[in-house]
Amino acid sequence: MFVNVHCSRKCKLRHLMSTFFVVLMVTLHWETLDSSILSHVKSFSLRHIFTSLDYISTNLTISREEARRFSSHRYLINHNQKCTGQNILLLLFVKTSPQNFQRRQAIRSTWGNEVYIEESLGVTVKVLFALGLHPQPLQRGTLQQQLLEEDERHHDLIQQDFLDTFHNLTLKLLLQISWTHFYCPHARFLMSADDDIFVHLPNLIRYLKEADQAGVKDFWIGKVHRGAPPVRSKESKYYVSQEMYPWLLYPDYTPGAGYVLSKDVASRLYQASLTLNASIHIDDVFLGICAIAIGISPQDHVFFSGEGRAPYHLCIYNQMMTSHGHEKDFHELWRRATDPEVQQVSSGLFGRLYCTLAKVRLLCIPHLLVSYPCKAAFL
Ligand SMILES: *[C@@H]1O[C@H](CO)[C@@H](O)[C@H](O)[C@H]1NC(C)=O
Ligand SMILES: *[C@@H]1O[C@H](CO)[C@@H](O)[C@H](O)[C@H]1NC(C)=O
Ligand SMILES: *[C@@H]1O[C@H](CO)[C@@H](O)[C@H](O)[C@H]1NC(C)=O
Repeated sequence: MFVNVHCSRKCKLRHLMSTFFVVLMVTLHWETLDSSILSHVKSFSLRHIFTSLDYISTNLTISREEARRFSSHRYLINHNQKCTGQNILLLLFVKTSPQNFQRRQAIRSTWGNEVYIEESLGVTVKVLFALGLHPQPLQRGTLQQQLLEEDERHHDLIQQDFLDTFHNLTLKLLLQISWTHFYCPHARFLMSADDDIFVHLPNLIRYLKEADQAGVKDFWIGKVHRGAPPVRSKESKYYVSQEMYPWLLYPDYTPGAGYVLSKDVASRLYQASLTLNASIHIDDVFLGICAIAIGISPQDHVFFSGEGRAPYHLCIYNQMMTSHGHEKDFHELWRRATDPEVQQVSSGLFGRLYCTLAKVRLLCIPHLLVSYPCKAAFL
C-alpha cells in the first residue's frame, strides 16, 4: 500500500503537532548553543587550514621607517588621559567626519551614552570619535572652530591632521589602533564603528562581560566577509589596482561598519601595522592583512548586520548587536530597543516559540540588503 496523499483532519493535526515539536526542539537546542560563547571563539575559517595566506603579509612587509609615513600624523585634538586609572571594559571608537555634528550628538544621547551604560550595567565604556581634517580648505577653518567648541563641551574627539576622505580610511584605522596602544592599552575590548550604524550597546556589553569572564583571547568578531575578491572596475570607489593588491581574493575580514577585538588582538595588530604597507585604502581589508601577519581570523556573529537595516521588531531587539544604515532614527530605535518589554517578550517557552516564528518570518525571506542571516532566527 502507498502512503495516503489525502490527509484527514486527524492527520493534519498530527503534522501540525510534529512541526511544532521540531521547532520547539530546535529553539531549545539553539539556546544552549548560543550560551557558550567559547564555541563562537573557537570556530574558525576552514579556508585557512588549506591555504595559508602568509605570502600576502610577507609581500606587503616594508621597513619600520617606510611604514612610519602612514602613522606619523599629528594630533590636533587629543585626550590622552581619557582612560588613565580606570577599569575599562570597552573602548569604542566611532569613525566620523568633521561635518557630522548631528550624528555625533545623536550617538552621545543614545547608544553611545557612557553614563547610561555605567548606571544600568555597571561597567565603564569610553566612547571616542575618530576624525581627520575637512578636505575643503575653504570650509576647514569654520568647521575646525566648531569642532573645538564641540570638544570643549564633550571632550570626546580625537583628531589627526590627515584629510578626512574615503581614501584615507586606513589612516583613520591606524589612528584608532595606535591611540589604543599608547593611551588605553588596558581596555579589555576595542570596538570600531561607523557613525551611521546603530549599536545595541546593552546587548553587546552583556556579551562582552561574559566573554571577559571566560577570559577570551584571540577574539575578533563581526560580520565576516570570506574570500571576497578585490573590485577591479575603475568606476567603483572600492577599486583597488593590481599594483596595490595583486591577489585574487582578500583575506577574511569584518566590514569596518562594526567589529570588536580583544585587547591582546588589538595590541598585536598594532605591532603588525608597524611594518606593513598601508597604502591600500580599504581599511577593513588592511585590518585583514594585519591579521594574517599575527595568525588571527575573524569569528562571525550573526547579529552583526550586513548592508541591511535590522527589522524593527521586539524579538530582534533582544539579540541585535549592530544594524546598518541609520542616522535619522537613532532616538526612536534606541527608545524601542531598550524598552523593558523587549526582555519579557521572548522569555518563557511560548515567548521563545513566538520569537522564533516571528524571526523566521522576518529573516528567512530573501531581501535585497541582508541584515541577519536566516539561521539567526533559531538562536
Ligand atoms: C610582491 O608581489 C609583487 C607582484 O606579485 C612582486 O612584483 C613583488 O616582487 C613582491 N614583493 C615582495 C617583497 O615579495
Ligand atoms: C590623505 O591625507 C593626506 C594627509 O593630509 C593627504 O596628503 C592625502 O591627499 C590624503 N589622501 C586622500 C586620498 O585623500
Ligand atoms: C606600498 O604600496 C604601493 C602600491 O600600493 C607602492 O606604490 C609603494 O611603493 C609601496 N611602498 C613601499 C614602501 O614599498
